[in-house]
Amino acid sequence: MKRTSLIGQLGQAQQQQTVTLQGWVSRRRDLGGLIFLELRDRSGTVQVQVEPDSPAFAEADRLRAEYVAEIEGTFQPRPESQRKGGLADFEVIASRVKVLNAAKTPPFELDKGESVAEDIRLKYRYLDLRRPEMQRALMLRSKAVTAVTEFLDAEGFIQVETPMLTKSTPEGARDFLVPSRLNPGEFYALPQSPQLFKQLLMIAGFDRYYQLARCFRDEDLRADRQPDFTQLDMEMSFVEQDDVLEVQERLLAHVFRRVLDVELPLPFPRMSYFDAMDRYGSDKPDLRFDSAFTDVTGLFRGGEFAAFASAPSVKVLVAPELTRKQIDELERVAKQNGAGGLAWLRRDGEGFTGGISKFVGGIAPQLIEQTGVAQGGTLLFAAGEWKKAVTALGAVRLALRDLFDLAAGGPQFHVSWVVDFPQLEFDEDSQSWTYMHHPFTAPHPGDVALFGTERQGEMRAQAYDLVMNGFEIGGGSVRIHDPEVQAKMFQAIGFSEEAAREKFGFFLDALEYGTPPHGGIAWGFDRLLMLMSGAGSIREVIAFPKNNRGADLMAQAPSPVEDAQLAEVGVQVRGE
Ligand code: AMO
Repeated sequence: MKRTSLIGQLGQAQQQQTVTLQGWVSRRRDLGGLIFLELRDRSGTVQVQVEPDSPAFAEADRLRAEYVAEIEGTFQPRPESQRKGGLADFEVIASRVKVLNAAKTPPFELDKGESVAEDIRLKYRYLDLRRPEMQRALMLRSKAVTAVTEFLDAEGFIQVETPMLTKSTPEGARDFLVPSRLNPGEFYALPQSPQLFKQLLMIAGFDRYYQLARCFRDEDLRADRQPDFTQLDMEMSFVEQDDVLEVQERLLAHVFRRVLDVELPLPFPRMSYFDAMDRYGSDKPDLRFDSAFTDVTGLFRGGEFAAFASAPSVKVLVAPELTRKQIDELERVAKQNGAGGLAWLRRDGEGFTGGISKFVGGIAPQLIEQTGVAQGGTLLFAAGEWKKAVTALGAVRLALRDLFDLAAGGPQFHVSWVVDFPQLEFDEDSQSWTYMHHPFTAPHPGDVALFGTERQGEMRAQAYDLVMNGFEIGGGSVRIHDPEVQAKMFQAIGFSEEAAREKFGFFLDALEYGTPPHGGIAWGFDRLLMLMSGAGSIREVIAFPKNNRGADLMAQAPSPVEDAQLAEVGVQVRGE
């Protein structure tokens, strides 16, 4: 017997027709001799009624949750009083029921959905994936892939696959290593991204490349990170930064239009790294709401409040009226993010009460004027070294967002560029300069002369991040194509020529054989899909994800292996 259609394809046109459907029983109820079933496939769910005198009754009586069934019957409107819109306006009166397969009682109720412990959902992922929400998320993902492909094909991008077993790539996270049986004692690294390969493809003359690339990074996991994840990776030749950004904007707008029927306003606003940090305390600011900081360093300079009087930077954030408990909680957030504390004031008339109010009598009018704080409103201060102060206050800003649902008043999707990242960053731990993006990122042409000078920390990179709703959904740069600049860059980050050659020798060789100017970007495809589907974690848009301890609870990976298998690859596990 063949099914006549998917459940979701049924509608007005099939009324009174005999249909044959196949799917899973999501619910079964007995009502005074009548059996009501809900039959589900990937496209929808429909109610099925089996009457006591129907020849189908005996077989229907065997059905339980998650049995696989075939149902033949008449598709018809439900009684007027029971219609709920869409497919719920209809039902199938069964004439024949066939159990195609029995199912054990599922370990969790599928329609309890996200309230089920995630570990259980991940262990039985194949059941979890039957839930309509998960099916919708993966179908959305598939649609997004189609939209990306159709756009990039039309723009002349060529899809090329790059190796999974390779050498360390330059993103700077920890590598996953794979021992080589044929070369005992030697290891491949899984790629953290296809960075070097895509640049080699530009050197090889492919002009425009893209790939949905699997990437592997052994780093601490969070809701927006997986050890293996997917990038939409792209690279273009004979371009400058603006050319790359322009294509990206049209691509993202195309994907949103095709997949969600949402128009993203173009062009996306651009903000420098410095402004993003200075005003919002983040290099991926959530701009669905404003709440920018006000700089009050000058106002406190040399004043009565000793802690602020000589601080290099004093920033203030305006908050609504807060309880002591809320202030304590926000202070905890500030401290967790590197601040010594979180000073505060509550506006009361033309002055302030609470917190540090006894120190600010003289500057109260200026504070009110500069911050615009309303009656009863709270001012929250972070002071200290600039980056520390803004970073801590940035975390407080996000905690306030969550506390007062501040983003709800803004657009559903806010996309922006953060540009002009620093070329170099001083690493306090190793007391040395390091790259901020990766060592092949080109500096602004006007800043190259600063390499090796006292001011090299001020160099701006031609690097950009794509930011949506407070998440970094993509990052890229114009690349260095001049071996001389590359050598300066390695020198600046303390990479000896030998070290550079050992790590990236093949790539440095290639740079000398006629490299076109080029640049590109990679989107965190899972992160983008998480935001597009409104999910709270990237695990909700990945079919078989790992949990936050990096484990695949279903396949039970990672797992120990036999000694013989280890011996074959020349590896010995050290005991504790
Ligand atoms: P970057 O390291 O910024 O750049 O990565 C690009 C984007 O990938 C996403 N991402 C992740 N998503 C899920 N889990 C992770 N562990 C994870 N790590 C990163 C982020 C990020 O913006 N080769 C460069 C790109 C380039 O320069 O063209 C690169 O990999 O959304």
